[in-house]
This record gives sequence, C-alpha cells and structure tokens, in this order.
Amino acid sequence: MLTTTLRATLARNLRPFVFESTGHSTVLDLDVPHLGAYVHIPFCRTLCPFCPYMKVEYGAGSAMPAYIDAVEAEIATVLGGHSAPLSSLYFGGGSPALAGEGIGRIISAIKSYTPVTGEVGIELHPSNVSPDAAAMFLDAGVTMVSLGVQSFQPDSLAALGRPTDPELSTQALATLGNAGFSAVDVDLIFGIPGQTDASLREDFARAVQLGATQVSTYPFIDFSYATNRVSPVPERRKRALMSVLVQTAEENGFERGSVWTFRRRGTPAYSSITRDNFVGFGASATTLLRDEFKVNTFNPDDYVAAVRSGGLPTAYTLRFSPRARRAYWLFWACYNMDIDRERFKALFGRTLEREFGGWLAAAGLLGIAKRTEDGYVLTPRGAYLYHRVEQLYTHQYIDKTWRAAMSATPPARIVLR
Ligand SMILES: C[S@@+](CC[C@H](N)C(=O)[O-])C[C@H]1O[C@@H](n2cnc3c(N)ncnc32)[C@H](O)[C@@H]1O
Ligand code: SF4
Repeated sequence: MLTTTLRATLARNLRPFVFESTGHSTVLDLDVPHLGAYVHIPFCRTLCPFCPYMKVEYGAGSAMPAYIDAVEAEIATVLGGHSAPLSSLYFGGGSPALAGEGIGRIISAIKSYTPVTGEVGIELHPSNVSPDAAAMFLDAGVTMVSLGVQSFQPDSLAALGRPTDPELSTQALATLGNAGFSAVDVDLIFGIPGQTDASLREDFARAVQLGATQVSTYPFIDFSYATNRVSPVPERRKRALMSVLVQTAEENGFERGSVWTFRRRGTPAYSSITRDNFVGFGASATTLLRDEFKVNTFNPDDYVAAVRSGGLPTAYTLRFSPRARRAYWLFWACYNMDIDRERFKALFGRTLEREFGGWLAAAGLLGIAKRTEDGYVLTPRGAYLYHRVEQLYTHQYIDKTWRAAMSATPPARIVLR
C-alpha cells in the first residue's frame, strides 16, 4: 500500500513498474555522469539460509573459470569503445574472493578500456581471508573490503543458520584491519531472535576494536524464498535495537553515514548500492543508466551461455519515465541521508526544488528532513521512517523481482504494483 502510494505520488507512475524480457538495448549508453561498476561473483562454499542473493554452491569441478571468461567477454562488449572514467568498482556476491586471481584479471580487463578513478571494493566471507589473500587483493588494485560477520555471538549465528566460528571472523577482521586498505567495513545483522541490547552493543564494539572503519547494520529480513529457521523480531524491537546502534556508534566515535551504516570520522564510505549511475557485470548484476534499469540473467550457466552467444546477457529491462528516474535517485539519496542540490542539478539539469519542492517542504514540516546550505539531510526521525519504507520496498519489489528472476522458468514480465 505504502509503496503503491509512493509510486503514484513521488514517481507519478499510476501504472505499475514493469520489467520486460523483450526490447532490450543492444548497446548501452554509458555517457552519463558518475558512472560506477559492479561485478557479481555468484559462488559460495556453503549457502546461508537467510541470504537472498544469487549464488550457487562452489564445489569441485567449479564453473568459476568459464564464469570469469564470460565476465571478461561481457566487459569487452559493454566497455569496448568507452573511455570515460568509472568512479568506482565493486565486487559482490556470493563470495567474490573464491575467484582468486580472477579478481585481478577482471580489474585489468576493465582498466584496459577505461580508468577507474575511485575506490575498488570487495565483499569478503571470513573463511576467505588470510594475509596472502589480503596482499593479493591489494596488489590487484582493491582498496576497500567489506567483511560479512553478521554477529560475533554463537547463538545469533546459530539462529541465522550461518556455520561460521566467531573466532574466524575475529581473526579475519584483525588481518584486514592491519593490511592497509583505505576502508574496512563489517556487516552485522540486527533483529535476530535472542539478540540482546548488550550483545548487539558488544558486536559493534568488537568490530571497532578489531579495526573496522565502518559498520553496516542490516535489519534481519525474511525473504519469501529464503529458508530461515527463525523469523525476525517484530518491528518494535528492531526500532529499539536501532536506537542501541545509534547510541553505540556515538560512544565509539562513529558518525552515521547512511540509514544503516556508521563510520569512523574522516574515513571513506564503503557503499556498493548508492551510485548515481552504474553498470553491472555477471549473473544477476543490475545496471542503472539515464532512463533504464536492467537486470542480467540470474542463473550462472544461462548467463555464461548468453554471453557466449554474443550480445548482452540482459534478462529484464525497466524503462523509467524522467520523473520516476529522478524519484529513484531521491530514494537512494535519502538512504545516504544527504540530498545534494548541486548533484541533482548536474545529473538531471533542473533544480531539486522545482522537481520535489512540495515533498521536501512537507518533509521539513514533519521533522523528517532539514534544509542545509547544500540541500537537505534526513533527521533521525527521517532515518527511522526510511528504515521502515526500505524494508517494505525490499519485500514488495526486490523480493518479488529476484524470486521471479531466479525461478527455474523466469516469467516473460515482472509487474511491480
Ligand atoms: C552478499 S552478502 C555477504 C558477502 C559474503 N558472502 C558473506 O557472507 O560474508 C552481503 C550482506 O548482506 C546482508 N544480508 C544478507 N541476507 C540478509 C538478510 N536476510 N537480512 C539482512 N541482511 C542480510 C549480510 O549482512 C551480508 O553480509
Ligand atoms: S551470506 Fe554470503 S556466504 Fe552466505 S549464501 Fe549469502 S553470499 Fe553466500
């Protein structure tokens, strides 16, 4: 209901958003400002029941070499002839470290077409971290890392069904903290049944002590196609835990970088999701450009086959109206709690106030946002409201799209109401 209202009013889209499996661009228009890149590596040693992302088990006789070849071929198709710089590059998954030296190959392939002017980040599972692996990624040009800890508490990990020894996470973080990366992010999940205020506070403090420069704290979400053993705690309890996080971050000298992230003052942000424009490579990777949002084929074997047959491995495309595209930008700017007037103007050629003046004025009156010299910032009240809306968006839009795209027989179109 709320997402429908926001779609109809903020995006002025009375009709539902539709992902079509036909009518894709054959050449992407990458002539857009602040273009970032994302590479998806969909393999994990063990699959966690709570995880919604596209991944398959990485076993003996792995499909990794063919997959890396396909990613390189997709990069050549998309970036061939493109020389404008990429502002960032992120590897996500799955567990991208399982690609080993493939990461360096992909970075070199990208840099053979276009420079990467900003940070290069990678998500790491604790079992993939060693001093040698850290040195290999630094050598390859990786500058930032994000470690999936989820919790240091055995009970919370057991509830999540994540078979990781907290000691392994501790060692992995200590290794990364000393390796020389410009940012070390730690992912924690809050809202796990049995988690207490004290245990969450302890998780945050342990991450900081071991060298994290950023702590990302995600509310536990029960995706419809996940195989969770337990359900997340009720929203009221999540709200209390979020207050604990805000307070603990302050006590540790961390500032809020977005609705769900906190970082040490003066350190760069690790963020793979909030880019003005981005191009994605690999199975299930998404691409956001001037007026389109496209999703690659989810199944890794089908992705490799699609790349081999030439052309782009696009599964679905959603065409944005100009208003919807700007509203989409605003949605993610709100996640960062920072709506920058100049950035909006540079991207869309019109003023923020002209496009969303009424909304921003109402947000000010309701105590959700505050006007600043550069634009608007979300207040703590606005951040909590966003946390609620983002979870609804995840259930109504992301869950539905990913479940359909991941199914054995993906539908011809996905309609999001
Ligand atoms: C691709 S995963 C992590 C990378 C790495 N494979 C690992 O497991 O450490 C990215 C992050 O999403 C978060 N996440 C995954 N499933 C979630 C869920 N159901 N609810 C909340 N956060 C979730 C976790 O914090 C996870 O570290
Ligand atoms: S949480 Fe990480 S290791 Fe677990 S299945 Fe998801 S991507 Fe793989």
